[in-house]
Amino acid sequence: MAVMADYCPGLDIHVVDVSQHRIDAWNNIDSASLPIYEPGLQEVLNRVRGRNLHFPTDVSGAIQRADMVFLSVNTPTKRNGHGAGAAADLTFIEKAARQVAEVARGSTIVVERSTLPVRTADVLRKILGQGSGHHFEILSNPEFMAEGTAIEDLQNPDRVLVGGFCSQAVAELTAIYANWVDPSRIITTGLWSAELAKLTANAFLAQRISSINSIAALCEATGADVDEVRRAVGSDRRIGCEFLRPGPGFGGSCFRKDVHNLIYLAEHYSLDQVAAYWRSVIDLNSWSQHRISQMIVKNLFGTLRDKRLAVLGFAFKADTNDTRESPAIAICRDLLHDGATLSIHDPRVSFDDIQRLLVTEAEGRPTSGCFERVDGVVSACEGADAVLILTDWAQYRDLDWATIAARMRRPGWVFDTRRCTNLSDAAAQGLETWQIGLGELA
Ligand code: UGA
Repeated sequence: MAVMADYCPGLDIHVVDVSQHRIDAWNNIDSASLPIYEPGLQEVLNRVRGRNLHFPTDVSGAIQRADMVFLSVNTPTKRNGHGAGAAADLTFIEKAARQVAEVARGSTIVVERSTLPVRTADVLRKILGQGSGHHFEILSNPEFMAEGTAIEDLQNPDRVLVGGFCSQAVAELTAIYANWVDPSRIITTGLWSAELAKLTANAFLAQRISSINSIAALCEATGADVDEVRRAVGSDRRIGCEFLRPGPGFGGSCFRKDVHNLIYLAEHYSLDQVAAYWRSVIDLNSWSQHRISQMIVKNLFGTLRDKRLAVLGFAFKADTNDTRESPAIAICRDLLHDGATLSIHDPRVSFDDIQRLLVTEAEGRPTSGCFERVDGVVSACEGADAVLILTDWAQYRDLDWATIAARMRRPGWVFDTRRCTNLSDAAAQGLETWQIGLGELA
C-alpha cells in the first residue's frame, strides 16, 4: 500500500488492523519500531505517511468510506480439526469479510491480496451477499513480492495479476497499477485462475529449490560441483539460472504453507498422484535440513557433547528479520539434541525470537545442549569447534578468517550451507571446510 500510495498521489489509502498496537507501531516515526524490517520501506513511508497513506484506528469508518477494500490478512495452515496441517485457516479472511459486509456502503470492490485456496472468492461471495442492498465485486490480486526485496519487487514487478469476472472492476484495479507498471506486464484472468496461479508460482519455486538441493547432495557424493551444474543447466533459457541456489532448505511463511495447500486441494479432488508429487517437494525440504545436522555430527567425531558451534544467521534468508519456517530452527534443534553449545549470530533476529523457536515452541524441549545470542561474528566464534553458516547475509561474504581461526579450537570446521563465504581464506588458515554441493572425489 505504501508503494501504491507513492505512485498514485490521487488515491487516499487507509490501512487498518484489528490490532491497535500494530497500527501505533506503523504511526511511529522511529524506524526501529516498524513492525517489519524491509529495505527501502522507511524511505517510501517517509514520503507517503500522512500525505495519502494513513493508519487510522477506526476500522469500520475506513471500510464505509472506501470504494475498494484490499483484504490482506493472514492465512496460516490450520492447526486443529479437519484439514489440520494442510488446509489454510480462513478464520481471518472470514472475519474481515463479515465486517466488510456489515459496514460497507454503496458499491464496493473487494480485492483478495492474501494467498488463498482456490475458490475462496466463493466464500467471500456468500458472506458479502448477506449484506443488504450493497453491491460487491470480488477480485483476486495476489502479490508476488518476496521478503527482503519487497519494495523493489513492487516497484518493478515481473507481472501484476488481476483476476475477476466483472470487466469494469478489473479495469478499475488495472488502471491503478498502470500508474507505474507497463500494461504488457498486467495480466488479467478469471478469478479461479488468479487464485490458483499464486499457489502454483510458489509451488514451482519451492520445487526448484528441492530439485537443486537433491542435486547438491548428488554432487557431494559424485565429485561434481553444484555451482558448475547450476551454471550449465541454468543457461538453458527454458530452465533459467535464477532461484537455483542450493541451501539448507527453503524457509519463510509461504512455500511450505502454499505447497501444503496445493496438496490439500489435490486430495480434495481425489488427485492422489498429484498430491504425492507435491508432498515429495516438502519431504525433500525436511530431509535437506536434517542432513546438514547429520553431516556436522559425523564430521565432529559423532558427538556434539561439550562442543561449541558458532551459528551465523537465523533468519530464513538475508535482508529480513523473519524466522518463520527458517531452516535454522530444525537444524539448531537437532544440534541441541546432540548436546551442542550454540553461539548464534544474526544481525536482525532477536534473542526472544530465537528463544521462542528453540524452546517455547519446540516439539519437546531440547534434552541437552544450550544456546546464546551473540552480537559480533568474531565473539560468536570464540572457542568454537565449528562455524556454521545458515543465512546468506552480505556480512558473511568476506569474513576475517585469520582472526576467527585464531580463536577456534582445532581441528576447526567451517560448514557453509549457502556457499556464500570466502571459504578458501578459511582453508588457508588451516580450517577444515565443507560447502553444500561440492564433491571431493577427483
Ligand atoms: C516467496 C516468493 O518468492 C514470492 O514470489 C511470493 O510472493 C512470496 O513467497 C509470498 O507468497 O508471499 P519469500 O518467502 O519472501 O517469497 O522468499 P524467497 O525469496 O522466495 O525465499 C524462500 C526460501 O528459499 C528462503 O529460505 C531462501 O533462502 C530459499 N532459496 C531461495 C534458496 O534456497 N535458493 C534460491 O535460489 C532461492
